Amino acid sequence: MSKEQLLRWLEEQPGQFVSGEKLSQHLQISRTAVWKQIKKLESEGYVFEASRRLGYKFLSAPDKLDAGLLEQRLETRRFGRSLHLFEEVDSTQNVAQRLAEEGAPEGTLVIAEQQNNGRGRMGRGWVSPKGKGIWMSFVLRPVIPIHFAPQLTLLTAVALCRSLRRLTELPIGIKWPNDLLIDGRKISGILLESTAEDARLRHIIAGVGISVNLEESDYPEEMLKKATSLRIASGGKLERETVIADFHLEFERLYDVYAAEGFEPIVTLWEALSVSLGKPARLTTPQGVIEGVPVGLDNSGAIKVQKPDGSVVLVFSAEMGEVS
Ligand code: BTN
Repeated sequence: MSKEQLLRWLEEQPGQFVSGEKLSQHLQISRTAVWKQIKKLESEGYVFEASRRLGYKFLSAPDKLDAGLLEQRLETRRFGRSLHLFEEVDSTQNVAQRLAEEGAPEGTLVIAEQQNNGRGRMGRGWVSPKGKGIWMSFVLRPVIPIHFAPQLTLLTAVALCRSLRRLTELPIGIKWPNDLLIDGRKISGILLESTAEDARLRHIIAGVGISVNLEESDYPEEMLKKATSLRIASGGKLERETVIADFHLEFERLYDVYAAEGFEPIVTLWEALSVSLGKPARLTTPQGVIEGVPVGLDNSGAIKVQKPDGSVVLVFSAEMGEVS
């Protein structure tokens, strides 16, 4: 209890030193106990200035997601309304999957400050450092045939791209199928995992990772060529609760459009935001490599690629790279 009281007392006097003597009197604990509580708070990410003569001055609190603030920011009806916020998990995908198996409603949202085993597409890992990004997964229960599930990956990319562009005014584009890029560098990844039974779709877990407030020092040197964050690109920190809330609002709107009108409107929006169309590409598919120019999206969510002989093929799943 005294730790919280101590913090409140110091936070209420920003920019001012409070002496150890005063703190110990106010909290009725020894000065050594005050010092111990300060050390505990520092290990949680709070920053104080300490002076032997003057005492302690509160400088800053750790960047922690605030469930109350997120609720305040949310304008959705269903999405994000059932919120599970964790300090650390293996992967939010696993937690959301378990909740979905237990019957969690559509829109149930799992967020973690940190993942110790985050995963990306194609069996890759996903680095998810503490307090700086958004690592979240949510439950979808669409009534669609299972082979339409990839459409929702593209819908998620469109929703995220539109909301981040609106918030940051950065020139963010979508690289097929669902990476978000700024000037060729990745700022977000999307991973949808479907669960089916007897060829019927039971639910989908949509996972979204957004590099929001990561700094250059958070990336290994070689990664800075391929990855960036909204903070690096815009030069300023963003409130993560606002980013989550705005994405959910956009997602809910597009999901409703999709339920009412099908995939076609989403295709139009995706094509307008794509940075893949019209640029020669090399697609590594499970069946082999295809070189050609992506020319549009098919209604199933596959990309249409025009080969050098003029023929157009559909590619459903691939790693897209530049032509060497
Ligand atoms: C990719 O680009 O390869 C997809 C990355 C998806 C990462 C997100 S972070 C939240 C959710 N939990 C995970 O373990 N992965 C997704």
